[in-house]
Amino acid sequence: MISIAIDGPAGAGKSTIARRVAQRLGYLYVDTGALYRAIALHMLREGTNPAVPEEVISRLDSVQVSLQYVEGEQQVLLDTENVSNSIRTPEVAAASSKVSAIPQVREFLLSLQRNLAKQNDVVMDGRDIGTVVLPNAQVKIFLTASLEERARRRWKELLEKGDADFNTVLADVKQRDEQDTTRAIAPLVQAPDAILVDTTGITLEQSIDRMLAVIHERLSQ
Ligand code: DC
Repeated sequence: MISIAIDGPAGAGKSTIARRVAQRLGYLYVDTGALYRAIALHMLREGTNPAVPEEVISRLDSVQVSLQYVEGEQQVLLDTENVSNSIRTPEVAAASSKVSAIPQVREFLLSLQRNLAKQNDVVMDGRDIGTVVLPNAQVKIFLTASLEERARRRWKELLEKGDADFNTVLADVKQRDEQDTTRAIAPLVQAPDAILVDTTGITLEQSIDRMLAVIHERLSQ
């Protein structure tokens, strides 16, 4: 099986690019952030405070999270409920950032992620895929863009939905970077054997082409 690990900070275009790259290769696309978000949603629904590790850990036993693929699209399930849309809220995003810093939560999701890669060719995106989840992935890519560019992309997305202040968005992205890169467990770092792809100043299509070129080159070695 072939595994392509894609890690990088929020807002680098990871999920869009990884999904498209997986489509082009005919591999399964695994968005691991959705798993952390599903756990966060479960905790919020149960009235568990995601910022209190002991509470979250004691509730992990009641979580049934899984992924299924319908016409190639990933769906994340809590028990049998498809929560793929419900996890895309700012509240769940904030809670997922908190639960993802808890070692037991990361451990809880490890075998699920590894089993998917054992049974399928995958493009898996997250923060610790090349470093922790799939250290033997044939291709590792660290996808990034400058802080300003990532903030600008996020700001434009928000503007489409309503009002947004660029400096506030910039501060938010900066804070999330700080949290992701300084947490004690599985912090966001570039694996030594990962190839850096910087999407600052290039279009989505150019980013996809660059990724595919990197992947083909690595796989042919
Ligand atoms: O990529 P995302 O925004 O959907 O991720 C949600 C949260 O989960 C984010 O705060 C980082 C965390 N996460 C993680 O710690 N490890 C991963 N492999 C994927 C996501």
